[in-house]
Amino acid sequence: MTQQLTGATTAAGTGTRWWRDAVIYQVYVRSFADSDGDGIGDLRGIEGRLPYLAELGADAVWLTPFYGSPQADGGYDVADYRVVDPLFGTLADAESLLRTAHGLGLRVIVDVVPNHTSDRHVWFREALAGGGRARYHFRPGRGADGELPPNDWQSVFGGPAWTRVADGSWYLHLFAPEQPDLNWENPEVRAEFEAILRFWLELGGRGVDGFRVDVAHGMVKAAGLPDIGTAEQVQMIGSQTLPFFDQDGVHEIHRAWRTLLDSYAGERIGVAEAWAPSAGRLALYVRPDELHQAFNFQFLRCPWDGAAMRAVVDESLAATASVGAPTTWVLSNHDVVRHVTRYGGGAAGLRRARAAALLMLALPGSVYLYQGEELGLPEVTDLPDELREDPSFFRSAGQEGLRDGCRVPIPWTGDGPSYGFGPGPGWLPQPESWGKHSVAEQTGDPGSTLELYRTALALRRRLAGLGDGPMHWLDGPEGVLAFSRPGFVCTVNTLPRPVELPAPGRLLLSSAAPDISGESVRIPGDSCTWWAI
Ligand code: GLC
Repeated sequence: MTQQLTGATTAAGTGTRWWRDAVIYQVYVRSFADSDGDGIGDLRGIEGRLPYLAELGADAVWLTPFYGSPQADGGYDVADYRVVDPLFGTLADAESLLRTAHGLGLRVIVDVVPNHTSDRHVWFREALAGGGRARYHFRPGRGADGELPPNDWQSVFGGPAWTRVADGSWYLHLFAPEQPDLNWENPEVRAEFEAILRFWLELGGRGVDGFRVDVAHGMVKAAGLPDIGTAEQVQMIGSQTLPFFDQDGVHEIHRAWRTLLDSYAGERIGVAEAWAPSAGRLALYVRPDELHQAFNFQFLRCPWDGAAMRAVVDESLAATASVGAPTTWVLSNHDVVRHVTRYGGGAAGLRRARAAALLMLALPGSVYLYQGEELGLPEVTDLPDELREDPSFFRSAGQEGLRDGCRVPIPWTGDGPSYGFGPGPGWLPQPESWGKHSVAEQTGDPGSTLELYRTALALRRRLAGLGDGPMHWLDGPEGVLAFSRPGFVCTVNTLPRPVELPAPGRLLLSSAAPDISGESVRIPGDSCTWWAI
C-alpha cells in the first residue's frame, strides 16, 4: 500500500549522462593502500585495490593530489603539476592505474589545485627572487614602515592571510603560508592551467575522466582586495559573504574550462569544491556551460534531524533543478569529522550513519563516498599531537576541523602491522578497533556496514532511474522522512525510538531490520528502509 503523495515532483534529469547519477569514491591517496612499505599510500597500492572498488559498485574514483609537492598541506600545495610525487609513485604508475581502472569500468577523476601553488613552485621561487610577481598577489604593507599586512584578511587555517618577504612586501595566502594564491587576472596563469588540464586529459592516450576543482570559488578576489572589516574567523564551511570567495569573476574561468572539457570525447567532467553562501549561489557553478557538479556541503553539514534534512534535500534539488544540473550528496571527506562521529559516535552514531547512507543513495543525483565510510569507520579522536600533519592544527590551536582524524589509513585485514594498509605501519597509528572494521572482517557478514553498502549500490544500479529522475515526498509522522521514486519507497526514521507505519511495499533493504506484521511495519529508531512498490 503506497501512501498519499504530498509533494511536487522534483529534479527531473535525462538519466543518460554518466555523471548525473554516478557514485564516486574518494581515495585519499596517502591513506588508502601502501604498496612499498614506507607507511604512505601510493598509486600502485590503489591500482591493486581497484577491483575492490569495482566490486563495491563505484562508478568512478576521485584521487586527492599526488603531484610533486613538499606536502605542507597533504599535497594541496603543488610544486609541479605535471609529475607524480616520488612518495606516491611515477607518471608510469598513474598511466597504469588509469588503464586498469578503465579496464574495470571505473572512471578516474583527479584533483586540480588552481587557487594557489606551493611556495616551492618555480613561479613562486622566481617571485621571491623578484621576477614574475604578477602571477601572485604581492602588495606593500600598511603602517609607517609597511609592517602591517595589506588588509585584514585571515587565512582559512588561522592567522593573517599575508606573509612578509625579505624585501618587505607581502604575499597573499588564503591557506598556509606555503600556499601562495595565484593571480587569476594574469593571462599567463589561465593559459598554464589550461595546459595542465590538457596534460592530464591526454595522459597515456585516454587520460583522466575529470577534475575535482579545489577551492573553485576562491580564484578571483574582489578588486582592490578590500578589508572585510571584522575579526571573525574565516570559515571555509560557512555562509559568510567574503571578498575572496564566490566572486562573480570565477564563473568566467569555469566556462572556459567547460569548453575545454567538452572539446574531449568521453564526457570529461569538472566538480566544484565551492563554498557559497546559499544553494542558489552554489547552483551558478553548475549552469549548463560551467562545471558539471558541485559538492553539496549543506547536506554534509545538516544535523541528524528529519525536518532539517528534508529542508536541505528540497533546497538542494530545487537549486540544481533551476539550472538543469544533478544534485550531489556527500556525508564525509578528508576535511571533515567522519559522519559516524558527527552523528554522535558509538553505536548510535553508526546506526545513523548507516541510515544516512541509505537515504543519500536513494535520492536523485550523484553520490560521493569517502574511503572507509563503507566500513563504518569513526573519526580517530586521540591522535598524539606530535604525529599530526594538518597545517590547521599548527596554525589555530583549538579550532574545530582538525583533519588528521579522518585521514588515518584504512584497514583491509583483521591483523598485521597496519591492518593490511601496507607491509609496515602506516603514517598515522590506527586504533585497535580497526581490525574488526576491516574489509576482510566485514566481507560476507550480512549485518556489516560494508555488505550494506555493497547491496545498496547493487540495488541502486539495478533499479533503473533511482539515481536520476523525480522524487515525491510521502506523508509520515514527525521525524520520519518518506519519499517515493519510480517503483520504490524510502523511509527514514530519524527518531531514536521505533515508529509504526503501514508497510509501504515489499522490503528490499534496511539499515536495521524492521518488524513487519501483516499490513504494518515497526521501523527501528535511527534507521532507513528501502521498499519495492
Ligand atoms: C580544499 C581541500 C583541503 C585543502 C584546501 C587548500 O579545501 O579539500 O584539503 O587544505 O583546499 O587547498
